[in-house]
Amino acid sequence: MDVMDYLRAMEDLQEKHPLLMEMERIGRERGFPILHPLSARFLSVVAASYRSRYVLEIGSGFGYSALWIALYNPFLERIILTDLDAGNMELARRFFERAGLLEKAEFIVEDGLEVLNQLDFAPDLIFNDAHKIQYPMILNIARKKLKIGGVIVSDNAFWLGKVLDDGNMDPSVQAIREFTRLSFSTEDLLTTLVPMGDGLIFSVKIKESE
Ligand SMILES: C[S@@+](CC[C@H](N)C(=O)[O-])C[C@H]1O[C@@H](n2cnc3c(N)ncnc32)[C@H](O)[C@@H]1O
Repeated sequence: MDVMDYLRAMEDLQEKHPLLMEMERIGRERGFPILHPLSARFLSVVAASYRSRYVLEIGSGFGYSALWIALYNPFLERIILTDLDAGNMELARRFFERAGLLEKAEFIVEDGLEVLNQLDFAPDLIFNDAHKIQYPMILNIARKKLKIGGVIVSDNAFWLGKVLDDGNMDPSVQAIREFTRLSFSTEDLLTTLVPMGDGLIFSVKIKESE
């Protein structure tokens, strides 16, 4: 048994919500890249422990990671899901309806970067899981929008291992490297990399952004 097997065995002690299991099945059947279940649970722990009331998700797919955030967070008042694909958003809406969480959720079919740009409130939590090329731009806007103590969590820190290959100069790989470098070097953020699933970059805003 390795560390991950041990962790999975612990997680199995609590029965997983049937809607999350259904979404995992849909993800497998469609080959759709939902967040790794271990990362999703971690994100959900973050959301509840930071008492996140206002959440923005950039790249929601059909709502798997957003539902993890919403299901177990007693402090949630509003979660905005964004995706470029209308079919994904409609499926997410149906899952939220079945979970009894529709009134807390908003489903926007638009570029998440634009939604972030136009945001008229300071979110407590931003979960970033969309187009990797946009990660550095998202960080620069997100850190200004977040309230102090707010967090931004982004998936694919390892980009399926590609960031570790120095010779890989693919634009998406370079964008993730740049995003990670910025996250760790920006003065207004305190950042760590959580090596779970495909790696999560986890930053908390510790002072006003310039
Ligand atoms: C990795 S999937 C998201 C998975 C989702 N977070 C989950 O765990 O279920 C990435 C999604 O981002 C969407 N996407 C790509 N670029 C986007 C953008 N600029 N704005 C919003 N969504 C985007 C894609 O349509 C896709 O559904």
